[in-house]
Amino acid sequence: MASREIITHSSDETIERGREIGAQLSPPALILLSGDLGAGKTTLTKGIASGLGAAQVDEVTSPTFTLVHKYEGRALVYHVDLYRIGDAHDLETLGLEDVFSEHAVVIVEWPEKLSLRTDWPVVRVHLEHISEDTRRIAISEEGGTRIRATTP
Ligand SMILES: Nc1ncnc2c1ncn2[C@@H]1O[C@H](COP(=O)(O)OP(=O)(O)OP(=O)(O)O)[C@@H](O)[C@H]1O
Ligand SMILES: [Mg+2]
Repeated sequence: MASREIITHSSDETIERGREIGAQLSPPALILLSGDLGAGKTTLTKGIASGLGAAQVDEVTSPTFTLVHKYEGRALVYHVDLYRIGDAHDLETLGLEDVFSEHAVVIVEWPEKLSLRTDWPVVRVHLEHISEDTRRIAISEEGGTRIRATTP
């Protein structure tokens, strides 16, 4: 399993790092984004979806209330936010029962709220506040994804 850590100093820099990750991803892939409220999960998703050619940065907004957003361009991307999912829910209640049979990239905020089982390659990303504009982003890849570090 490959892992690495980057530090960003602005939301724009996080978007740019996300774009680099997205540009190197090929579906299918499950991206699990963990970290506190405001850590930058949605901001990173803007970059990943843009790098995959699924959406423009400004089109990607938090699926806090709808729980799932779908973007389709050069690639198909589902952006899921499980923060408000509550108890006793599963992928079926989200309308995502067949998502793992699609050729997609599925990006999940608050993945610890649900147990997601898939044989897809998984990328785990943990974001941490360092200061107001600084974030530490730890990326680890499991099962076949290959994201190269493009920054030191
Ligand atoms: N280096 C940085 N990287 C990412 N976001 C940053 C950075 N510096 C400041 N910010 C700001 O922090 C906030 C991050 O919000 P974002 O919605 O991406 O967080 P989140 O992890 O998705 O939160 P939530 O759990 O509420 O969905 C934004 O307001 C963004 O502008
Ligand atoms: Mg968010």
